[in-house]
Amino acid sequence: MPSNHSLTGVSFIGCGAAAPETVVLNDALAQVVDTSDEWIASRTGIRQRHVSNDRESLAGFATEAAQQALAMAGVAAADVDMIILATSSAEDLFGTACQIQAQLGATKAVAFDLTAACSGFVFGVVTAAQFLRSGAYQNILVIGADLLSRWVDWNDRNTCVLFGDGAGAVLMQATEDADRLLGFEIRSDGTQNCCLNLAFKPELRELIPGTILTQGRYQYITMNGKEVYRFAINRVPDAIDKVIHQANLTSNDIDWLILHQANQRIMDAVAERLHIPAEKVVSNVANYGNTSAASIPIALNEAVRSGRIQSGDTIATSGFGAGLSWGAAIFKWG
Ligand code: COA
Repeated sequence: MPSNHSLTGVSFIGCGAAAPETVVLNDALAQVVDTSDEWIASRTGIRQRHVSNDRESLAGFATEAAQQALAMAGVAAADVDMIILATSSAEDLFGTACQIQAQLGATKAVAFDLTAACSGFVFGVVTAAQFLRSGAYQNILVIGADLLSRWVDWNDRNTCVLFGDGAGAVLMQATEDADRLLGFEIRSDGTQNCCLNLAFKPELRELIPGTILTQGRYQYITMNGKEVYRFAINRVPDAIDKVIHQANLTSNDIDWLILHQANQRIMDAVAERLHIPAEKVVSNVANYGNTSAASIPIALNEAVRSGRIQSGDTIATSGFGAGLSWGAAIFKWG
């Protein structure tokens, strides 16, 4: 049962990340498809990606990231009220979040999956904030985790060079101090749904004469790269701009810009439109590729643990991708 505290603020007090050890360099990919390190690096900034093996699992990486976030926050698993797993590559279509709840021993937490592709982490943070601000819950784990190496066609050079595997997590806590989520904007445009899909392809089966069922399987990721690129560089700066205004800030007040790590060129173009200098842009796309819902919390975790991001810093973030969907938020770390 949710408690009935009237806490109003949200704080971000722990983070963590995990990724498979196996790394595939661009040069190695050039043995699989007709590509080159030069093409991939110059078009995307990606140099390598982490890929999982048959002994590793989405729940395993997500649990590891969550444990690190709990340890940093000094919160026991037993005190977590809710686990939101943002993922598009669940190992069980009924949901993977409950496996994480069990592995963590977060016995009182309600756990569920949230599917919004590469926007999933930002959507998860905004969802968590509603439960914290209302006073219903005290501690919420928001995890972004995806193993898209399972879902790319490794014969399709248009997509396989872009994606990688990983997980990241934050612990959000209700606070009586000032609210540290300063603003958000979350959006969808289903008219462009066909630009990026991991779609179910039905196969017909006649169960009994006259009754046709559709059974089938999920297809590999398909993408219209140019359209997605155009969408990102238009929608993302607009959304962040709106949230900056909502928070009564200017772009000068932003200490760090952490965008979904899809492509270095997208990050550069968005930062330029917002007049945010390159040294404030957190990027690790070179090392991970696009890890979908995991990319923002993995980048956040690296910047916090390396000491670049300090308590009280103001962070603008934006996730964007399939749906099409996009979201932006501004929050203070700590
Ligand atoms: N290696 C070599 N050549 C490749 C290639 C690869 N991995 N992938 C595509 N090409 C080829 C294409 O076949 C095409 O060849 P053609 O002109 O003979 O048909 C050509 O490169 C396209 O090149 P270009 O127009 O320069 O590509 P681009 O600058 O549009 O870059 C993307 C392609 C995919 C990198 C870019 O569109 C992009 O990043 N889009 C956004 C994708 C994204 O981030 N998706 C996830 C969002 S969450």
